[in-house]
Amino acid sequence: MTKIASNLQIDSTRLWGTIHETAKFGATAKGGVRRLTLGPEDKQVRDWFRKACEAAGLEVHIDALGSMFALRRGRDMSKPPVGLGSHLDTQPTGGKFDGVLGTLAALEVVRTLNDAGIETEIPICIVNWTNEEGSRFAPATMASAAYAGEYSTDNILARKDASGMSVGEALDSIGYRGSEPVGQRKFGAFVELHIEQGPLLEAERKTIGVVDRGQGIAWYDGKITGFESHAGTTPMPLRRDALAALSEVVLAVERIARARGPNAVGTVGEAVIAAPSRNVIPGEIAFTMDIRSPSSETLEAIDSDLRSTFAEIATRRRVEIGFEAIWRKPPTIFNPRLVDAVESATKALGYSHRRITSGAGHDACNLANIVPAAMIFVPCKDGVSHNELEDATQTDCAAGANTLMHTVLALAGVAS
Ligand code: GLV
Ligand code: MN
Ligand code: MN
Repeated sequence: MTKIASNLQIDSTRLWGTIHETAKFGATAKGGVRRLTLGPEDKQVRDWFRKACEAAGLEVHIDALGSMFALRRGRDMSKPPVGLGSHLDTQPTGGKFDGVLGTLAALEVVRTLNDAGIETEIPICIVNWTNEEGSRFAPATMASAAYAGEYSTDNILARKDASGMSVGEALDSIGYRGSEPVGQRKFGAFVELHIEQGPLLEAERKTIGVVDRGQGIAWYDGKITGFESHAGTTPMPLRRDALAALSEVVLAVERIARARGPNAVGTVGEAVIAAPSRNVIPGEIAFTMDIRSPSSETLEAIDSDLRSTFAEIATRRRVEIGFEAIWRKPPTIFNPRLVDAVESATKALGYSHRRITSGAGHDACNLANIVPAAMIFVPCKDGVSHNELEDATQTDCAAGANTLMHTVLALAGVAS
């Protein structure tokens, strides 16, 4: 195999241009992006991505959950491709980089290899995974989880959004229910570039995060049932106020995560009063919890803290507090050989770096269950993500894309 010098670099201006070009699909007034999975803006970006991949000479295949696979042939087509990519859906008030960077950097890698006339020994395949965010349909990373065998395709197709529309219906509505069985296309390895979404790299002035672990995640759906009654006539001691109980629940989640810290976080991200009215004491509230830690034991301990604390609140306030775990993602340990490959590429390119644990969930964490997988992080401004203000520099995005390219070249080899 031919060795490629580390002076082969991606085109930073072209990558920056595609990131900003696609940010117009779902652009918000505050400079962010609202591109909920399988909605009309997701269709726009998918159509753009498909065209760009085809123009780069890739064969685009779509699986039954809408994940997009763009294959670049290698010299030896008997080998499973090296996968690279991320996602193009966003949070309701998302930014321009979360997921987008990893997907468009993968396209930029292919364009650079094309321009340089480089054929890899092993094929490479860009992936745009459906519904990484988990905001419209739960759980997050559902398509890559199904790909990795954690759910059946039918199970995921039946999941519904808040309006009652299923994943299957949403796929049909934008014409992205593909024919390829989920999980049929095998990879030899998978590498995902992403912004860090946290503050560490920026604080330590490091360009690349070599990701060796991912936090475990537990998502819960909860419900508090009290009793609706008149806001003017019900004396305070007689109330069974679901919203007042929720207030205690929210503070308890915060207190418990802090007490089990520093490596634990807990969030109540959604709360909906069933029939809100100014002069009715709230009787029913649905809420969600997102609990994370790199340690499975800590997640278990928090689960048990939540159960005992909520039982006490429920008894004292004479309400019911029910909750069920709807998603449990154990902590991820990325493949040491691939993590080393990322670190070697980083060193060869001369970028400052550190090992890092991912606080966010990623499709690569699901892939890690079935193939060697790794991730590359670059800093984002003030560590802010899942926010329209999310930002990253052109230089750091290019450094991440170069690291991705050289990692992929080391894994796929160059045909001589
Ligand atoms: C995915 O965006 C997550 O919640 O970590
Ligand atoms: Mn993401
Ligand atoms: Mn995200």
